[in-house]
Amino acid sequence: MNSDDENNIAEWRAERLRQRVADFQARRPILLRDAGQLNDEVAEWGSRLFDNTARMLVITGDTGTAKTWNVWEVLERAIKVGYAGEIMFLTSAEWQDIIGPPRDLERLRKMRTVNVLVVDDLGSFRINDWQRDLLGPVIDERWNNGLPTAITSNMDDFDAALGERLTSRLGDGAIVAMLEGADLRAGR
Ligand SMILES: Nc1ncnc2c1ncn2[C@@H]1O[C@H](COP(=O)(O)OP(=O)(O)O)[C@@H](O)[C@H]1O
Ligand SMILES: [Mg+2]
Repeated sequence: MNSDDENNIAEWRAERLRQRVADFQARRPILLRDAGQLNDEVAEWGSRLFDNTARMLVITGDTGTAKTWNVWEVLERAIKVGYAGEIMFLTSAEWQDIIGPPRDLERLRKMRTVNVLVVDDLGSFRINDWQRDLLGPVIDERWNNGLPTAITSNMDDFDAALGERLTSRLGDGAIVAMLEGADLRAGR
């Protein structure tokens, strides 16, 4: 390979990275694009994406403590430094859509296998049996395969909302970030 080829490959890689960052930034909600300080635990999970040791990330905290912001931020930073895995970022409306009824089998399958799954705002309302029966196997399979999964929630009591089995899967080996502070939305 001569140096022209090498330059071409480097350029192509750089262009692909620029495109990936731009695509991700375009998906990021406008109100969650502010610069800010990433939580340490969240950052730790993000760095583990690179050696395949990132597993569950559970971010808890009251409304407006930047849970969702932290997930977008950590993933954007990871992409910028070359993380190439596929990311499925599901808002609460989106994962409720998938779970249905009727359930969306194709996207449920993707939830089980995609490189990184984000389930935002789990427990923004009470999880019913139907939802638990569909979310359970997703969490189970990702847990079995050691796939990175980020959950945000303002629940105090995961057990009551999700059941013991699912809660223990979520908690096992998880990095937990408990965000605190005033509602950041209130200042707008
Ligand atoms: N680090 C930060 N610095 C300043 N504002 C922030 C920061 N993180 C989030 N915000 C703003 O605070 C608001 C709430 O953040 P969000 O992530 O939606 O909270 P949560 O998911 O915990 O309810 C958003 O409008 C967001 O833009
Ligand atoms: Mg949120």
